[in-house]
Amino acid sequence: MIADSETQAGVSRKPSLFSSLPQVAGDEIFALSHAYIADNHPQKVSLGIGVYRTNEGKPWPLPSVRKAEEQLLAENDITRHEYLAIEGDVKFLDLARDLMFGFEDKNESPAQQQAKQRIASVQTVSGTGANHVGALFLAMYLKPKTIWLSNPSWANHTAIWDLAGVPRKTYPYYNAATRSFDFEGAMRTLEEEAQEGDAILLHACAHNPTGLDPTKEQWKAIADLCERKGIFPFFDSAYQGFASGSLEEDAWAVRYFFNEKPGMEMCVAQSFSKNCGLYGQRVGAFHLVTNGESPDLRERAVKNLCHIIRGEYSMAPRHGSEIVKKILTNEQLKAEWIQDLDVMSSRIKKMRKALYDELVRLGTPGTWEHIVKQNGMFSYTGLTPQQVLAMKEKYHIYLLKSGRASVSGLTEKNVEYVARAIDDVVRNVA
Ligand code: LMR
Repeated sequence: MIADSETQAGVSRKPSLFSSLPQVAGDEIFALSHAYIADNHPQKVSLGIGVYRTNEGKPWPLPSVRKAEEQLLAENDITRHEYLAIEGDVKFLDLARDLMFGFEDKNESPAQQQAKQRIASVQTVSGTGANHVGALFLAMYLKPKTIWLSNPSWANHTAIWDLAGVPRKTYPYYNAATRSFDFEGAMRTLEEEAQEGDAILLHACAHNPTGLDPTKEQWKAIADLCERKGIFPFFDSAYQGFASGSLEEDAWAVRYFFNEKPGMEMCVAQSFSKNCGLYGQRVGAFHLVTNGESPDLRERAVKNLCHIIRGEYSMAPRHGSEIVKKILTNEQLKAEWIQDLDVMSSRIKKMRKALYDELVRLGTPGTWEHIVKQNGMFSYTGLTPQQVLAMKEKYHIYLLKSGRASVSGLTEKNVEYVARAIDDVVRNVA
C-alpha cells in the first residue's frame, strides 16, 4: 500500500541495490520449448529440447518405469518420503556405478572388488547436478587452469564451468565441410595447447549437439593423449542405452578409459533422465575415479563431495532413484527396461532414415547422409540460423539456432512436412 501511494505520488526512491543486474539471455533450449507450447499452429513440430516422444508425438512413460512405480506404491513403505543420506541412496549408487563401469554383480573377483574401491560415488540432481558438483569439486581440489570443451558442446556445460570459476577453452569438434567429427583438429589443439592438470569434457556417447561420436580407435587415441599429457577426463554420460540401444556399447569409452588406463584418474557425470524417461525426477550420480592410492581415499572423496552437496541442496531427490533401483534390482524389470531402450533408440534411427529418404526423394540440394550417420537424440542438420528462423516463422518447426534437431520430435505423420520445410529453406533462404 505504502509503496503504491509513494509511486502514485511520484516520491523518488533510492535506486535498487540490484539496478545493475545484467540482462541474461534465457536458456535457448527451454525458451524454445515454451514458444512451441504457446504456438497454436496445427502443424507445429518440436525438434528443440532433447526428450523422447512417441510416433504420436506424445511423452512416453516407460512401461518398465510404470511397473516399478506400481510396485513401489503397493509396497507402501512408510519411509519412502524420508531423507536420503547426503551422499544419496547407497544401493542405488552401487547399481548406477555397476551399470556405468560394467561390473557384474555375481561371482565378484578380488580384482573387481579392488576396481570398485577406486570409485567414489554420490547421488546428484540428474546429469546437470552431476556436472555441477563435479565441476565444483575439481575447481576446489584439482584446480585445473583450463576446462576443455568441445566446439560445439551442450550449452549448459559453459554455464556450469563458469559458475565453478574454471576458465574454458574449446577444442575443434565439428568439421562443417565434411559434417563429421574433426578428430585431427581436436588432437592437434589438445596436443599443442593443453597443459598438465587441465580437464577435458568428453561426451560418453551421442555427442550433444552434433550426434557425432569418436570411433573406438579415436577414443583410444584420446585416452592415450589424456594419459600422456596428464589431462583429467570428465565424462558426461547422459544417453547410456538410449543412443544405440545397448548399455555396453554406449558405455564403451568410459569403460575403456577405466579398464585400460588404471593409473589415470577421471570422473563421470551420469544421468537417468533420458534412458529411463525420468526427466523431471532428476536422477543421477557423480563418480570420481581415483587411482586407489590409499584405502581411505575413496571415503575422503565421498566426504568432500558430501560437503559440497550439503551446502548446496542437502541431498538429491528420492523418488526417481527408488524407481531406478527397483528396475535394476529386478531381473524381469531390467529385461523390460532394456526392451524399452530398444523401442526408443530404434524409433529414433527409423526417423533419421525417414527424414533422409524424404530429402533425397525431394532432391533437396546438399548431402544428407550425416542425418543417418549421426548417433543418438540429435542431428546437427547443417541448417543456418536464418534457415532455422524461417523453419519456425513459416512452418512452426522449432529447432536450435545451431541447426540441432531433436530427432525424436519426428513422427511418421510429420516427417514429410518437416522434409518439405527443410527443402524450401535450403533452396530459398540464404
Ligand atoms: C537438451 O540438450 O535438449 C537436453 O539435454 C535437455 C537439457 O537439459 O538441455
